[in-house]
Amino acid sequence: MKKIVIQGLGYVGLAMMTFCAGARRGKKYRYNVVGIEKNTPKGLKIVSNINSGKAPEIVDDKKFSNFYSKLIKDKRIKVSTNNSEYLKADIIFVCSNCDFNFTKNKVEIESYIKNIEQISKKIKKDCLLIIQSTLPPGTTKKILIPLIKKNLNLRGIKNFYLCHSFERITPGKDYYYSMRNVERIVGGINKESIKITKKIFKDIFGLNSNKIIEFDTPTESETCKIIENSYRATNIAFIEEWRKFCSNNNLDLEKILNSIRQRKTHSNIMRSGIGVGGYCLTKDPLFAKASSKQILKKKFDFPISSRAVEINKKMTPDIMLEIKKKFSKRLLRKKVLLIGVSYREDTNDTRYAPAEKVFNFLKKVGCKLSFYDPIVNHWSHTNTYSVEKKYLKDFEVYVYLTKHQLFKNLKIAYKNKSLILDLNHVLDKKKRLEISKNKKYESYFIGSKE
Ligand SMILES: NC(=O)c1ccc[n+]([C@@H]2O[C@H](COP(=O)([O-])OP(=O)(O)OC[C@H]3O[C@@H](n4cnc5c(N)ncnc54)[C@H](O)[C@@H]3O)[C@@H](O)[C@H]2O)c1
Repeated sequence: MKKIVIQGLGYVGLAMMTFCAGARRGKKYRYNVVGIEKNTPKGLKIVSNINSGKAPEIVDDKKFSNFYSKLIKDKRIKVSTNNSEYLKADIIFVCSNCDFNFTKNKVEIESYIKNIEQISKKIKKDCLLIIQSTLPPGTTKKILIPLIKKNLNLRGIKNFYLCHSFERITPGKDYYYSMRNVERIVGGINKESIKITKKIFKDIFGLNSNKIIEFDTPTESETCKIIENSYRATNIAFIEEWRKFCSNNNLDLEKILNSIRQRKTHSNIMRSGIGVGGYCLTKDPLFAKASSKQILKKKFDFPISSRAVEINKKMTPDIMLEIKKKFSKRLLRKKVLLIGVSYREDTNDTRYAPAEKVFNFLKKVGCKLSFYDPIVNHWSHTNTYSVEKKYLKDFEVYVYLTKHQLFKNLKIAYKNKSLILDLNHVLDKKKRLEISKNKKYESYFIGSKE
């Protein structure tokens, strides 16, 4: 049986390890699979959590949890912090993180190079590396391949296979299907690398060849991921520009956008919102400029992508300032409930969630803050737990931030004089009208007049 090793067991690596471990031919499992984490407190905690047999905290999708539990029962999930696992690997999925350092305004490429160094010092001849990490375009070709070749040469090894194939998984309730049913992009260093990578994706996901798009360089796959996420981040920033204008001039942006959506060509125009969060959209557009500066050493500027990140970063504080101006006395030192604190709906992922900025802002205004989010339950930003449902009525200000499905039927008996702010279209039109027409409350709905 061939051996697959996964480097990095975060959102991407955990899912990849699970799908590899679950790949079957008939009743027989196809691969020996081992997941590797870093020998750090965080890595050791991940390994010990997985070894305890419980579904990892980052998983909040039933379909995935059931799949995972079955594999735990069959003793298919093996994890370790021991890099010697790379020695006998036939295939390695690299799912470790390549971060952007916002203080130094650069990609932490040196730290990522160490991850590849660890692998290339150990792998055997003919090993296939499938790099899934999001990287500044050119990284694999300009930095990683020469490094791998150098380390293999030292051990007299000539041949290896490599593809970059980025990941599109979304944390949350679609974790399983966003991994299983998506088209994959494969950029290989040669035809053979592409061929065997395609076969592995077919084994693991049952993916037909027509759902795999081939590129004959890893740089095209790296670029594809950065354009995909920069496009989304830019569209969000574009709408923020108009949100400000409409808010300032008392215009109903959402009604305007709905009328634009009637044109087929414009049907997916973005909504306004409280801000951009998560691990990817907050950093990936910056990888464009970083690629030019740090990797390719060329002078491409990417003003739109860079500006989009800036606008998106300022979006939450800008909105909160507007709210403060509008409702200053109604906010000062009040008991506030944030409703939903993850960065997007139906997930417990709170990385870079706008809720953090909202919390910090309101704290400065002297508010006494709690949050309600049964999906997140424990919020690392405050190291506190979601309030119980029976206490929802005890607040003076309600700030809706995440459109979890479970909030659809949420009923709160607001007290007289409550201030209700929906900053992310969590409430439907009927509820908004009920609130705005009720003289007992004050309200504000992002992008809408009512
Ligand atoms: N989160 C997403 O939804 C998503 C989607 C698509 C692509 N990506 C990209 O995939 C990559 C991984 O993302 P993630 O969300 O899983 O990140 P993550 O930070 O949750 O997980 C990465 C894991 O890799 C581990 N790691 C780092 N160096 C290691 C090493 N040398 N050996 C073993 N383990 C090591 C870290 O400890 C961490 O647990 C990133 O490049 C990201 O941009 C993420």
